[in-house]
Amino acid sequence: MLTIGSTVTLNNGVEMPRLGLGVYQARGKTCEQAVTWALAAGYRHIDTAKFYGNEREVGRAVRASDVPREEVFVTTKLWNTDHGYDQALRAFAESQQKLDLGPVDLYLIHWPVSNQRDESWRALETLYEEGKTRAIGVSNYTIRHLEELLGKARIVPVVNQVEFHPWLFQKDLLNFCSAHNIRLEAYSPLTKGERLRNPQLATIAKKYGKSPAQLLIRWVLQHEVIVIPKSANKGRIQENADIYDFEISAEDMCRLDAFDERYHCTWNPAGEP
Ligand SMILES: NC(=O)c1ccc[n+]([C@@H]2O[C@H](COP(=O)([O-])OP(=O)(O)OC[C@H]3O[C@@H](n4cnc5c(N)ncnc54)[C@H](OP(=O)(O)O)[C@@H]3O)[C@@H](O)[C@H]2O)c1
Repeated sequence: MLTIGSTVTLNNGVEMPRLGLGVYQARGKTCEQAVTWALAAGYRHIDTAKFYGNEREVGRAVRASDVPREEVFVTTKLWNTDHGYDQALRAFAESQQKLDLGPVDLYLIHWPVSNQRDESWRALETLYEEGKTRAIGVSNYTIRHLEELLGKARIVPVVNQVEFHPWLFQKDLLNFCSAHNIRLEAYSPLTKGERLRNPQLATIAKKYGKSPAQLLIRWVLQHEVIVIPKSANKGRIQENADIYDFEISAEDMCRLDAFDERYHCTWNPAGEP
């Protein structure tokens, strides 16, 4: 049975909470407050990135909370302008210093920048081997990018963080990742709010006495995918974690799967050579 404390075991044995708080576009005090509320609501996983400009605030909120550091899983990411072996090592050191939480739990390549991603992955392997990060992974990698990486890497990424919701049900990518022991992690699970008023979605959500956002988060979890909805609002942070008292039926899972229309609300990495 899924609970807010549910974790997945990554391919290197590290436990990663299935539900996390995304903090993209939450800046300064707003971010700090959101992380504080999330930890109080039972979240034990925060997803940030250098690009979000809020690593300092995430670190501050985690340190200030009553929750022991080792119980909180923090992800940050290598930004596109920091690729290359030496540059990636430097960027990681800066992120780690801003977070000020000791070893990072998960460090991801944010985007598969062509011609540079291999060197950056080598840097992430070094960081992992030196114990500076407990796990390494990628984000926005298509099957093609993953095949290329797996052909060269010494260490298999633990996760691939990609856009994933019923309108972009990436079944082939999910199957590919499962076959290679890479966990899929869903960003923009709420379509950035764009599809929350969809009438079909509302009808299914109503049946379970849940909000459209709750239904979408639960749909991701029932696909065995990690999920990181973003909210900077206390009520919605709590709402998004109140998803453990119902289960979407197999029939409704299929109905939601069929929403797929290859719709990207964030960005589409298919064009990255
Ligand atoms: N790796 C990548 O390239 C990448 C790309 C995009 C995102 N991400 C990560 O994934 C996280 C989530 O994705 P996202 O921020 O793009 O979008 P999202 O989680 O799909 O949606 C966030 C939006 O939905 C609203 N919202 C949250 N809960 C709601 C609820 N219960 N009812 C109604 N509206 C609700 C939020 O507003 P309020 O804040 O006002 O509640 C915000 O406007 C990011 O924060 C980031 O950590 C990663």
